[in-house]
Amino acid sequence: MRGGAQAHLLLAEDKHHYVVKTKQNPQHRRVLVNEWVSSILLRQLDIAQPAVECVELTPDFLAAHPEVNITLGNTTAAVEPGWHFGSRLPVDPNRFVIYDVLPDPLLRQVANLRDFLGILVWDKWANNCDSRQAVFFRAQVKDWISGETSRKSAFVALMIDHGYVFGGPHWLFQDSPLAGLYYRPLVYDGVQSLDSFQPWLDQVLSFPWPGLDRAFRETPEWWLNGDRDELEKLLEKLYRRRTRVPHLIEDIRDGRVNPFSNWPK
Ligand SMILES: Nc1ncnc2c1ncn2[C@@H]1O[C@H](COP(=O)(O)OP(=O)(O)OP(=O)(O)O)[C@@H](O)[C@H]1O
Ligand SMILES: [Mg+2]
Repeated sequence: MRGGAQAHLLLAEDKHHYVVKTKQNPQHRRVLVNEWVSSILLRQLDIAQPAVECVELTPDFLAAHPEVNITLGNTTAAVEPGWHFGSRLPVDPNRFVIYDVLPDPLLRQVANLRDFLGILVWDKWANNCDSRQAVFFRAQVKDWISGETSRKSAFVALMIDHGYVFGGPHWLFQDSPLAGLYYRPLVYDGVQSLDSFQPWLDQVLSFPWPGLDRAFRETPEWWLNGDRDELEKLLEKLYRRRTRVPHLIEDIRDGRVNPFSNWPK
């Protein structure tokens, strides 16, 4: 796949396709932890995202598929057998199209466009220092968006790529107003005040420690390499900075380029 982590598109034994980021990816082993922790917390915030799994690459599979490797300049590095991070494709890519981008007229029609407000709350809380990414596909809305009962088919957005939350591999919170934004400001057209970010803002402000502790306990050992204590400290910092999130959103509005056209300074 395109992208700095040099992920690979693989068909797994469960018959699903996964975009797999390996522990040997050129960004850092910690991007797998970031992806995993994000997916656990995004589930709790009820923001649409792909299913994620730990994907095992066996010695036999890697021997049979030497093309599953990592390119570093002129050399290639092997991917090691073991467990890696998989983000599941929402549909069979041989039968249905998944889009990385949509033109504005179609983006406007995305059934869960409001999830871009929820994910901005997450991206600010978690200090995602990458820009926001999503994939789009057509589906029955009720199958993908909680609370929806409509059988109508529409474009659905799933939020992807959480490798660079927590300041990426550094696990630092150095906030910057433009980080975490989606490149099409129309997704923010509904923003008129901080209230537009509800219910996510209140959910974060009162996010319970057990929810974060669950992410801590459910992070697999094989990506941590002795980072368990660091991860706990990171999540404690995340817990303490919940109250900063409304200010971080106001900082976006007050920044050099305000993406909220209906919420002027
Ligand atoms: N669950 C998914 N369903 C469909 N496509 C996906 C999924 N996850 C990732 N992709 C595709 O794989 C590409 C690479 O994934 P991702 O952006 O997470 O990797 P990355 O290497 O971290 O990228 P970047 O360089 O932006 O940090 C995405 O641009 C997207 O096209
Ligand atoms: Mg990416």
